[in-house]
Amino acid sequence: MRVDDTYGRPLRNLRVSVTDRCNLRCQYCMPEEDYVWLPREEILHFEEIGVLADVFVDLGVDKIRLTGGEPLLRRDLPRLIRLLAAKERLRDLAITTNGVLLGEQARGLKDAGLHRVTVSLDTLRPARFAALTRRQTHAQVLEGIAAVARAGFTETKLDTVVIRGVNDDELVDLIEFGRRVAAEVRFIEYMDVGGATRWSMDQVVSRDEMLAILEARYGRIEPVAEETTAPADRYRLPDATVFGIISSTTAPFCAECDRSRLTADGVWYLCLYAPRGTDLRGPLRRGAGREELAELIRGRWLERADRGAEERLVLRERAPLVQIARLKEDPHLEMHTRGG
Ligand code: GTP
Ligand code: 5AD
Ligand code: SF4
Repeated sequence: MRVDDTYGRPLRNLRVSVTDRCNLRCQYCMPEEDYVWLPREEILHFEEIGVLADVFVDLGVDKIRLTGGEPLLRRDLPRLIRLLAAKERLRDLAITTNGVLLGEQARGLKDAGLHRVTVSLDTLRPARFAALTRRQTHAQVLEGIAAVARAGFTETKLDTVVIRGVNDDELVDLIEFGRRVAAEVRFIEYMDVGGATRWSMDQVVSRDEMLAILEARYGRIEPVAEETTAPADRYRLPDATVFGIISSTTAPFCAECDRSRLTADGVWYLCLYAPRGTDLRGPLRRGAGREELAELIRGRWLERADRGAEERLVLRERAPLVQIARLKEDPHLEMHTRGG
C-alpha cells in the first residue's frame, strides 16, 4: 500500500534508532558535558521493533536504516538485523555508524544479512579526531572501515560533516581516502539541528563552496543525472570518481523527503526538525494490534506537512534550533536521539 502526505511524499524510508547512547562526543552533535538518557525500560525490544517494522512495511516502507546514538552499542544487534533481513519486502537494510566498533562487528553484521554500511568519518588526522570527538579512537575507526570491505560489503559510504576552520581543508584528502577504500564520500553541510548548540552560520561550508574547492583541485565536476537521490546530490570527477554533497542547510531536500524516524523508545518523528512525535510504544505495550497501529501511522502520515529544513532557510538571523535547557527537558529533541 502507498500512503502519501499532503505534499504527495510517500512513506518509504524509516530510520530506526536502536540506542541513544554514543561512544563519541562529536562537537556538531553532542558538545555538552552531560546528557539526559532515555530510561532503559522504555527502550523497545527487538520483537517490538519487528512488529512496528511489519506495520511500516505494509504501509509502503521499503528502506530501513539503523541509527543511534551509536547503533553498535546495542547489545546483540545482529539478532535484530536477522529479524529485519527476513522481511522480503525490505529492499534496503543499512546502518549508520561511527565505526569505532566495526572492526569487531563487521563480519557478524554481514552474516546477519545487513545490506550496507555508512561510516561517519570527519577527519583523517588523529589529533583532530580527538579534538572533534573528545575520544582517542581514530585508529579503531580506520580499522573498522577496512573491516567493512573485508567482510564483503559493497556500496559503502563515508559521511563527513564539513565545518569551517575544523576540517574544511581535508576535502581532497577524504576523496582520495574514499577512492583507496572503495567507498563513496559524502560531504554534509553542518546543520543547526538538535544538539548542535554551538552551530553558527559562519561555520557552514555551503555546497557551492565545497564544489569550488574540489574543482580547483580536480577540474570540471559534473552532476550525476539521476532521479531520486535525496538526500545527497552526487557528482563525478574527471576520473569518474563519484562523491555526494548533502546540502541540508543551504539547499534542503524537503520537497522529496520520504523519511521518518523512530526513536529507541518508540516515538515516531515525521521530520528531523519536528518539535513533537507520535508515541507508538504506548499503544504497542497496551496491546494494540497491527491494524490499529497501521491506522494511527497512516493517519499521521496523511496529515504530514513538515518541511523543517526549508522553513529554517527563510530565517534572517539563524541560530541553533533548540537551546540547551530545552534539550535537557526533552532529550527527544537531540540529534543523537533522533538518529542523525
Ligand atoms: P542512503 O542515501 O540510503 O545511503 O542513506 P542516508 O543518506 O539517508 O543516510 P545517512 O544516515 O548517511 O544520512 C546522511 C546525513 O543526511 C545524515 O547524517 C544527516 O546529516 C542528513 N540527513 C539524514 N536524514 C535527514 C533528514 O531527514 N533531513 C535532513 N534535513 N537531513 C537529513
Ligand atoms: N549537522 C550535520 N549532520 C549531523 N549529524 C549529526 N549532527 C549533525 C549536524 N549538526 C549527522 C552526521 C553524522 C551522523 C551520525 O549524524 O552525518 O555522521
Ligand atoms: Fe525531511 Fe524534515 Fe529533513 Fe526536510 S528537514 S528533509 S522534511 S526530515
